[in-house]
Amino acid sequence: MAHIRIFDTTLRDGEQTPGVALDTAQKIEIAKQLARLGVDIIEAGFPITSQGDFEAVQRIAREVQGPVVCALARTARADIERAAQALEPASSGRIHVFTSGSKIHLEYMLRKSEEEVLEATVESVRLACEYTDDVEFSAQDCTRSELGFLIRLYGAAIQAGATTINIPDTVGYGMPEEYAALIRTLRERIPGADAVHISTHCHDDLGLAVANSLAAVGAGATQVECTVNGIGERAGNASLEEVVMALETRKDVWGHHTQIVTRELYRTSRMVSMMTGTPVPPNKAVVGDNAFAHESGIHQDGVIKALETYEIMSAETVGRDAGVLVMGKHSGRRAFRRTLEELGFAELGDDQINALFKAFKDLADRKRTVTSEDIRALVEVETARVPQTYTLEAVQFQSGTHMTPVATVRLRTDTGSYEEAATGDGPVDAVYHALERISQVPIALEAYEIRSVGSGKDALGEVSVRVSSEGRSVHGRGLSTDVVEASAKAYVDVLNKLAAGVARRLGESVATP
Ligand code: KIV
Ligand code: ZN
Repeated sequence: MAHIRIFDTTLRDGEQTPGVALDTAQKIEIAKQLARLGVDIIEAGFPITSQGDFEAVQRIAREVQGPVVCALARTARADIERAAQALEPASSGRIHVFTSGSKIHLEYMLRKSEEEVLEATVESVRLACEYTDDVEFSAQDCTRSELGFLIRLYGAAIQAGATTINIPDTVGYGMPEEYAALIRTLRERIPGADAVHISTHCHDDLGLAVANSLAAVGAGATQVECTVNGIGERAGNASLEEVVMALETRKDVWGHHTQIVTRELYRTSRMVSMMTGTPVPPNKAVVGDNAFAHESGIHQDGVIKALETYEIMSAETVGRDAGVLVMGKHSGRRAFRRTLEELGFAELGDDQINALFKAFKDLADRKRTVTSEDIRALVEVETARVPQTYTLEAVQFQSGTHMTPVATVRLRTDTGSYEEAATGDGPVDAVYHALERISQVPIALEAYEIRSVGSGKDALGEVSVRVSSEGRSVHGRGLSTDVVEASAKAYVDVLNKLAAGVARRLGESVATP
């Protein structure tokens, strides 16, 4: 039984999800959670691309213990030196050197001959080995590359000192059997391949990233590169939680194990969704809202009699509970703190606990039963909070079948309280117009999503928005039992993030792979 290494690239490939921008504090928070989750390697960023990426990798290398911390670099001296510099504080650091393997990439993107790519690879891997004995090498677009060139290229990288060779399906083109055959062939034909780790890196353009990753494991790969919730460039990467639970649930098929603490999967998924502003679809395997919900009478009858009638894994295994009542409006601060600890939030500071307790009391006034899911959602909002330049003081709106929706909003800033009224196509639109009048910040709404936390007519509504403003892209979230108020809070979250500079310039990031 082999140990399959889980290489998490949420902070690098995952951050290449359109519209996603994480600040350093958020990256550290996620990296610490990835360490609790038990991933083997965290790809923390691509240090040459920006000062922000450099600092995030450096701080993760310094502050996060457990996993190997990895930094990405092209086959260029400056990239490798910058990656090595960022990794200096790490207990164990890996440099991930990449180039391309396909004719399409060589001709149109790199504008280099095969010999030039080979030469740059050897030089770069050698240089990386001067800084660490843990060097990974990847050639993008392997599934559309010529086999003979891949064998030469990876053989040269191993000879130069690479200890992991990663075979990316960069454009999500491979089919499971084909990709497995590629891994098997490379393993058999690359000189020295039996002495290094073979890694998979699959994108989900045809919805096959997880299937391809598993097929590669079946063919001898011992490392899987993946992201939490499958986020990433275009259609995303292989989803970590799906790969892990497939290996875990079907050990009889794969015969391998990972060191992932599966009880941390749900919390990690929620944190990443919250911080990146990418909602998890309800039908998403393992972590979606409906993954353990049984709707039809026959199914419900079955699971009441025996869970295994319709469940192949238990919700608890992945860190989900039934959303049972945990607290009510009469619960005190001590009980609240204990509940937070039981839910795995033992590391919150006193200020955060005070803010959460207040939010909990406000919620308990509006909602008869406060569930563990509600408390998790409150914690997610609190831990993602940036300095509050703007505070929402009041929202009022009127709308109906035969009237123009109108809203009044009061917002507090350092300089006082401001109130504006506006009309709109609906109550949310009216609220957003009023907020725009007060803040004078030009904002274009690009995506708006709403989900219910738990069920019932008093369930919390969670609104997430993605906006662009003067060439910057940012997301915001808001929680309330009133969905219009949750929408207003999401917008105010955006205003605060823009004020705090937590936004990505549209088109920012240099030469991302
Ligand atoms: O998709 C890809 O090829 C990559 C490489 C940098 C590994 O992300
Ligand atoms: Zn990728």
